[in-house]
Amino acid sequence: MESVDIIIKKIDKNIEEFGLKYPGSSSTNLKYPLVENTEWTTSFWTGMLWLAYDLTKDEKYSSLAKKHSLDFENRIDNEIETDTHDLGFLYSLSCVADYKITKDSKAKEIALKAADKLVSRYSEKAEIIQAWGDLNNPKQQGRMIIDCNLNLPLLYWASSVTGNDEYKEKAYKHAKKAQKYIVRDDYSTYHTYYFDVNTGEAKYGDTHQGYADNSCWTRGQTWGIYGFLLSYIHTKDESFLETSIELSKYFIKHMDKEDVLEFDFQSPLRPKIYDSSAMAIALTAFVDLVEYIEDEKFKNEVLEASNLIMKILEEKAFDKDVDKEGVLRLSTYNYNENLGINEFNIWGDYYYFEALCKMKNRDYKNYWL
Ligand code: GLY
Repeated sequence: MESVDIIIKKIDKNIEEFGLKYPGSSSTNLKYPLVENTEWTTSFWTGMLWLAYDLTKDEKYSSLAKKHSLDFENRIDNEIETDTHDLGFLYSLSCVADYKITKDSKAKEIALKAADKLVSRYSEKAEIIQAWGDLNNPKQQGRMIIDCNLNLPLLYWASSVTGNDEYKEKAYKHAKKAQKYIVRDDYSTYHTYYFDVNTGEAKYGDTHQGYADNSCWTRGQTWGIYGFLLSYIHTKDESFLETSIELSKYFIKHMDKEDVLEFDFQSPLRPKIYDSSAMAIALTAFVDLVEYIEDEKFKNEVLEASNLIMKILEEKAFDKDVDKEGVLRLSTYNYNENLGINEFNIWGDYYYFEALCKMKNRDYKNYWL
């Protein structure tokens, strides 16, 4: 059976099991807890339903995903866990995907409400979108994180469907700040960076999920690779493409060529703490990135790295048992908070499926674009 067919079989089984609930962010003993629509990750399951629909045109996937759109309407209308920049992940893979695929104007309207809420997190002085928490909470104030690069597509999309450039301009300014401060001189990345929202002053970088403040959190690097590429495609600012390429060079140079990647490139921990989800994010980014690389030698390096990622994931992380809910084992949500260590997590499952769908069908609708 082809890999995508195995994943489709898992989705079929999960539809029965999950009902109108969502898998939690990561599994416990390789079983997902079921949750209401309250986490930053619920849309990855919805996104898998849309990918399955795109691939098969079977309406059992779209009909459940459309029920999720209404649940996402309830979430934004009632402000359920919406004090977060993760509105981008949440609405790009639910209502934006719905709108792109079905042209349903209601889905567009819901996603635009989320875009309005997201853009309200922008600080005019610091020119960044605050990652987490209340905008007046001093502990969270002025903090940007690299993951936000994947939240910006909701704003680019909002400008494209409304003709209002404000969303795009703010997303662009945020991406420029991330490029300047969160990317280090050696093209590794900080996970997070703080700014003074009263003066705009850049303060310091640190980590939340990486091994150390000055190390390179593997998944963060891949949020950067994919996210700067998406910002390039949306804005045509060539410097974002260069940044995505340089981050990819760092990733390829430091990647373990024989094993699932560790959660941090500098992690000394043994036994190893893995993050297969970072490999899935890199893989889906590389499928798009190669289209834009002019240097043939580097293009071949990216293709070789992609093949290696596929091989390692296939051999060591892809769970082919269709009775198991998850797709990629050996992923870590947050080592520092002892969350989901070497387990399935739902974004790893999503991005692996996204990469495989892209490779199978280059006409597929990219929900981030
Ligand atoms: N965006 C949070 C994470 O990557 O775990």
